[in-house]
Amino acid sequence: TSDATVGFKDVDYAFMVGAKPRGPGMERADLLKDNGKIFVGVGKAMDDHAKRECKTIVVGNPANTNCLILQNAAKGIPSENFTAMTRLDHNRALTQLALQTQAKVTDIEKLCIWGNHSPTMYPDLRSCTVGGKPALDLIEEGWKINEFTPRVQKRGAEIIDLRGASSAASAGSASIDHMRDWVKGSSQWQSAGLLTDGTQYGVPEGLIFSYPVTSQDGKFKIIEGLNMDDELTVASMKKTTDELLSERQAVEHFL
Ligand code: 2OP
Repeated sequence: TSDATVGFKDVDYAFMVGAKPRGPGMERADLLKDNGKIFVGVGKAMDDHAKRECKTIVVGNPANTNCLILQNAAKGIPSENFTAMTRLDHNRALTQLALQTQAKVTDIEKLCIWGNHSPTMYPDLRSCTVGGKPALDLIEEGWKINEFTPRVQKRGAEIIDLRGASSAASAGSASIDHMRDWVKGSSQWQSAGLLTDGTQYGVPEGLIFSYPVTSQDGKFKIIEGLNMDDELTVASMKKTTDELLSERQAVEHFL
């Protein structure tokens, strides 16, 4: 159907895979505005027709801010039911680290992505282990700073350059990983963009921000108590938070 009122009727799980892509000469702010209109309309249709317990993942970019607009337009549905995908970035980080350490992705634990699904995201290896050993003991600092981090941050653009089109299968697969763990639970650390309440890791209220999470009983739970005091972490968290604040400002009239 192309009729949102039919499409969202009694929906349990919503995968928002589409958004208007950035065209030649378009600024990020233009993209935010065009997608804002789309996500307001979709949010209203969800508010009127979807199940109250409907779980939603936003994939289409700018995913975090699109998710924020959607959540604001569907206030009849609990805000915790709206999430943005950073599982793709998480999976990419796992792969890069596995290749570098000659491990399997299933040997890796406690890796996470903080912030925006954009080049300002902060892929964090500080708690990460590979086969039980601290990841930071197995890799060079230079590789982490000069290769791993920018590769994960800019992987979306790298794929567009290589394929002439945005990622598709990897994004689809990651969205299923996200929804499966959300529904069925997982004690492994994953990454997901969640609505902030102003009490977690110094991030202001009312942003969709990626955190390390586990999941249980149909709910994501943010990992608590991580030390965020080192210089790189402070600067990285500030950068991605500032970007999300400026995105929110650009779409204020939709909220
Ligand atoms: C990606 O990261 C473009 O968001 C898409 O591949």
